[in-house]
Amino acid sequence: MDVLAHNSLKSMELDHKDGDPYKLATKRLINKVAVVTGGSRGIGGATAKLLAEHGAHVIIADVLDELGTSLANSINGLFVHCDVSVESDVEAAIQLAITWKGKLDILFNNAGIGDIGGSITTLDMKRVSKLVEVNINGVVHGIKHAARAMILGGNGGSIISSSSTAAIMGGLGSHAYTLTKEAILGLTRSSSCELGTYGIRVNCVLPHAVLSDMLVDAYRSFKQDFTTEEIRQTVSENGSLLRGRCGMVEDVAEAVLFLASEQSGFITGHNLVIDGGYTSSSINMTFIYREKKS
Ligand SMILES: NC(=O)c1ccc[n+]([C@@H]2O[C@H](COP(=O)([O-])OP(=O)(O)OC[C@H]3O[C@@H](n4cnc5c(N)ncnc54)[C@H](O)[C@@H]3O)[C@@H](O)[C@H]2O)c1
Repeated sequence: MDVLAHNSLKSMELDHKDGDPYKLATKRLINKVAVVTGGSRGIGGATAKLLAEHGAHVIIADVLDELGTSLANSINGLFVHCDVSVESDVEAAIQLAITWKGKLDILFNNAGIGDIGGSITTLDMKRVSKLVEVNINGVVHGIKHAARAMILGGNGGSIISSSSTAAIMGGLGSHAYTLTKEAILGLTRSSSCELGTYGIRVNCVLPHAVLSDMLVDAYRSFKQDFTTEEIRQTVSENGSLLRGRCGMVEDVAEAVLFLASEQSGFITGHNLVIDGGYTSSSINMTFIYREKKS
């Protein structure tokens, strides 16, 4: 079973015992037009599906053509080959929304690549440049061209980017990954200042240890035969305050849906942390909450 399918199953088991909330919820994005970069799989794939379930017309922009085309077909959306590090690719993906439906309401700037660890003293600068090109430049391209289209459209819009908890806490990602994800916070804040004038909201999500291909690859770079289930268990036990609960791609998708919809209409310049509480507390000190023996 692939990671996405496995994730979906676990998420349903844990959270959705009383029925499928996607079907129960009122549709929140009727006739909205969205572009999701990195939408072929993982967090972007789950978000593309959820936005479509809520009535949005979705364009998936990714370098994984086969997966992306199949997912786009399944949600009545479109797929466009797009390497976010190439500005003209991102511009073309945004333009496709205008050609297709005459407007752009939502951009989920999610495409990104991971990195393996290693010492700052031996940092491979070619690798750093690669991460900067995709994780930072890709997001800059997205905000720049989505903002242009949204300003011209005159109806505001919502731009959401994928940062990471590595942006707010040391020790959660490699040096290169960390610096790229922190840059997204700065650009989110600065562009929200300018774009608020046009009713365009700019926010980012900070997921933590979400079971996707990226996370599995990262774990396997340390131990090749790690199974997906072992990784899920390790993260569930050590990676959140909600013991036994590992972050799912659907958890991030729900947060993006909120930021994309009018339910978050007064929220901009915000970084929404999705980490099961991990970065807000020290799990090493929980003994102080135990009842004292008299
Ligand atoms: N999984 C986690 O634990 C986690 C935690 C924090 C942040 N994030 C961030 O969330 C985002 C999605 O990650 P994921 O976990 O779903 O990983 P993933 O590897 O499953 O998905 C990433 C997607 O981005 C696409 N992509 C990569 N490079 C691209 C490029 N140059 N142009 C266009 N598309 C490209 C991939 O093809 C893939 O579809 C990333 O930005 C990642 O850094 C993930």
